[in-house]
Amino acid sequence: MRRGALPHGASAAGKPGEPGEPGGGRGGNHSPRAGFGAAAPTQDGAGRGGRPDEIAGDVMLRECVEWLFTPAGSTARGLGLVGETVAMGARHRRCRAAWEPHLQKCREVMLRAARMCPGRGTVVVCGSGYCLDVPVRRLAGMFERVVLADAVHPLRARWLAGKCGNVRLLETDMTGLLGQAGAWREGLDVGAIRSVAPEGLEEFEPDLTLSANVLSQLPLPVKAWLIKLGCGEDGVAQVCRRIVAAHLDWLWGLPGMKCLVTDTENRDVDGGEVLEETDLLYGATLPPGGETWTWHLAPRPEISRHFDRIRLVSAHIRSERPPA
Ligand SMILES: C[S@@+](CC[C@H](N)C(=O)[O-])C[C@H]1O[C@@H](n2cnc3c(N)ncnc32)[C@H](O)[C@@H]1O
Repeated sequence: MRRGALPHGASAAGKPGEPGEPGGGRGGNHSPRAGFGAAAPTQDGAGRGGRPDEIAGDVMLRECVEWLFTPAGSTARGLGLVGETVAMGARHRRCRAAWEPHLQKCREVMLRAARMCPGRGTVVVCGSGYCLDVPVRRLAGMFERVVLADAVHPLRARWLAGKCGNVRLLETDMTGLLGQAGAWREGLDVGAIRSVAPEGLEEFEPDLTLSANVLSQLPLPVKAWLIKLGCGEDGVAQVCRRIVAAHLDWLWGLPGMKCLVTDTENRDVDGGEVLEETDLLYGATLPPGGETWTWHLAPRPEISRHFDRIRLVSAHIRSERPPA
């Protein structure tokens, strides 16, 4: 993919490590899923010590076990969300040091939003995932209730919820499209595909809603599925754009405080040279201001010996509703 191009490609959902599965490939924006994970180290196991086949075997086994034992609905599993989640956890283990400054910044911003929040009833975390970037215990100490909302709750999130008495897990689809996707067939009218507001969140009346590095991920399962059905690149990109826009409209329209943390752009870099860059938000614009930083998602040799993959991240805290 060249500079400025939208990600494209085709993939089948399946177990981590399967060829063509998002978690099994390079997992960056070269995959149709453009997720944060990758199931296995580079083929030669460079930089990790030990025999490559042994290392890859251990990694794969751990991921397969986690994939099997992560409770999830058949839709989320079938669309590859469990594989992607497990793969992200695996990449975090491999790139822990490189990720830590980014994770730290995310937690700081979320805590700042929590301190600014006048109400201390409920905080909802959209895209809680592994809760790597979410200060769950701190939030649980500040609010009466913490709701972790995700399509897949990995074992770590379940363990955290078990430790804190006031943390609740909500399995929900932030786009409302995951359940529909299975019924889509070749030749469908992609122009008619519209995201809907996440189910089950209204009842919580959150004082604070955090969107935790989920925005760029929302279009990915739908995108992979549409590509598999043979939909054209432009139509798929339009659907992705609408999914991103719908999450932003929903978030900014909520009462209470809102905090958005999202990666906005992917860059593959070699030293000072940007080899490729991709807009992860499909042209959606974020409010002016906010804070930005760089996330070293995949330092070499994680994906390649020839480039590092970085993400530009943006964070925004808002309390007011946008004008109608
Ligand atoms: C990269 S993770 C976010 C990182 C997470 N906050 C953490 O600290 O580990 C993205 C999350 O978005 C979730 N996700 C993707 N599409 C979703 C959807 N349609 N509805 C709900 N969650 C979704 C995935 O399950 C995943 O846990």
